[in-house]
Amino acid sequence: MQRTPEPELMEGQEQALAYAAADFSVGDQALVDRMVQLFPAGLGTSVVDLGCGPGNISFRLVDRFPDAKVLGIDGAAAMLAPALQKLSHRPALQPRLRFERRCLPDPSLLEGFTAVVSNSLLHHLHDPAVLWRAVRQLGVSGACVYIKDLRRPESPQAVLALQQRYLADAPSVLQHDYIASLHAAFTPEEVTQQLQEAGLADQLQVASLDDRYLEVWGRLF
Ligand SMILES: C[S@@+](CC[C@H](N)C(=O)[O-])C[C@H]1O[C@@H](n2cnc3c(N)ncnc32)[C@H](O)[C@@H]1O
Repeated sequence: MQRTPEPELMEGQEQALAYAAADFSVGDQALVDRMVQLFPAGLGTSVVDLGCGPGNISFRLVDRFPDAKVLGIDGAAAMLAPALQKLSHRPALQPRLRFERRCLPDPSLLEGFTAVVSNSLLHHLHDPAVLWRAVRQLGVSGACVYIKDLRRPESPQAVLALQQRYLADAPSVLQHDYIASLHAAFTPEEVTQQLQEAGLADQLQVASLDDRYLEVWGRLF
């Protein structure tokens, strides 16, 4: 099945509210647990969460890694709004957690992060090289990198089967987004090619995960 890109930024109010209200806790916690497994010595002192949306992963990271400051960035104000609201209710976190509206590519983003993390951003990007350039731009030598995303199924029928299995009872806007996202996602082979073109193939590795994800991880030289 050919890739069909979807809009990059999630700027719709209904879309953003439905996303923020959905319960992704099992998958989000699995992502953080996987990072602990891959990087048992921790993520260092500064983590950037690219395409952070409502901050589900950013909040978990700051809770799980108490030595780290976390910056979540997203280009969509509607998606960032719930993150900022939640942070306002947790003032104790404010010295260590920030959210900024920024759209990648953003050459003005300060570099020097000890970890670069992203969940479900890659498939939104019309040009996937934007993510790999951001990884190189932002991470220090030795930085931990963990990227998780959907992987594109082989057929439209396989897309619908996943939607039925995982989102049959979700609001229709989320079901629509999920189908569009699976069509927009990349395959592990395509991501391997992207890493080669970005000069990252010897630093990051790609693998399929479960029945619908792929993950990319490693350390920058
Ligand atoms: C599916 S959401 C994932 C949100 C979050 N990472 C999570 O796991 O819940 C993808 C997010 O990427 C953001 N995004 C897409 N393209 C972007 C870009 N070029 N720069 C910054 N954010 C972008 C969208 O606005 C959206 O909030």
